[in-house]
Amino acid sequence: MGVDFDSDLGKLQRSMAESIAGTNRRNAILSELQIEPGDTIIDVGCGAGHLLTHLAKAVGGDGTVYGLDPSKAQIDQANLRCSEFENVKLIERNADNSQLPNDCCHYATSTQALEYIPDVDPALDEITRILQSGGAFVNVSILWDHFKFYGADQRLNEKIHDSFRAHCSHQMLPMELPGKLERRGFKYIKDKSLAFVITRRDRNSPARYTEDVMANFALTQGISKEEVSDWKSQLEKAEQEGRFGFTSFPVMTSGYLG
Ligand SMILES: C[S@@+](CC[C@H](N)C(=O)[O-])C[C@H]1O[C@@H](n2cnc3c(N)ncnc32)[C@H](O)[C@@H]1O
Repeated sequence: MGVDFDSDLGKLQRSMAESIAGTNRRNAILSELQIEPGDTIIDVGCGAGHLLTHLAKAVGGDGTVYGLDPSKAQIDQANLRCSEFENVKLIERNADNSQLPNDCCHYATSTQALEYIPDVDPALDEITRILQSGGAFVNVSILWDHFKFYGADQRLNEKIHDSFRAHCSHQMLPMELPGKLERRGFKYIKDKSLAFVITRRDRNSPARYTEDVMANFALTQGISKEEVSDWKSQLEKAEQEGRFGFTSFPVMTSGYLG
């Protein structure tokens, strides 16, 4: 069972998107895409639409931005966030079934979404189908094996991290994506690290939101309330003693359809 983005975890995900980690990812994507006014762009797994507003401003009134996500709660939030933009069209569907015409997009982008799709190949086929020749795909996915907290008791820390593996389908998608894109005719494929480290767990920090996401998820995986609460206390103590850490390793993969 993975994360249910229609539930309370969806709310935490939206807080994450608003944190500095979300901002940095959006800035990296926007500087990678060479957006021109009038372009058509799709954000696959758009969540609550934080990137869509930036894309809508960049393509202007003559352009179109599609935000696709299967979660009704996320699409409802994206609708609210994008209400002032007539050029944003929201699609409540899975990535493998956009129902858009062939070759309709200059760009496709996706942030921390493909790793949640068990069979990611049909989703990549669909992105390739709707992207026009010369168009670019820019994806950000996390290397989950490097998504780690430091400072708690090692055994308990490993137990919480191990339980979190079930939250998504692909732990290391950025390692597989270049080959998958090459086989679909993409060229000039490159990777860029967006890795970061945090040594404080202030409110509103991505580390704090992630701690809550992992703690809630651990409870759904049968880890006891006491253990989850001990883990959180141990992280708090580690922070007080100046030995807390959190690392995340998102990778931006981009390529042009030949
Ligand atoms: C971690 S959130 C990321 C949302 C947004 N891209 C962001 O960066 O804030 C993952 C999103 O992927 C969506 N998702 C899950 N399965 C999907 C699928 N089969 N096709 C498209 N999106 C999917 C979820 O509903 C969720 O909104």
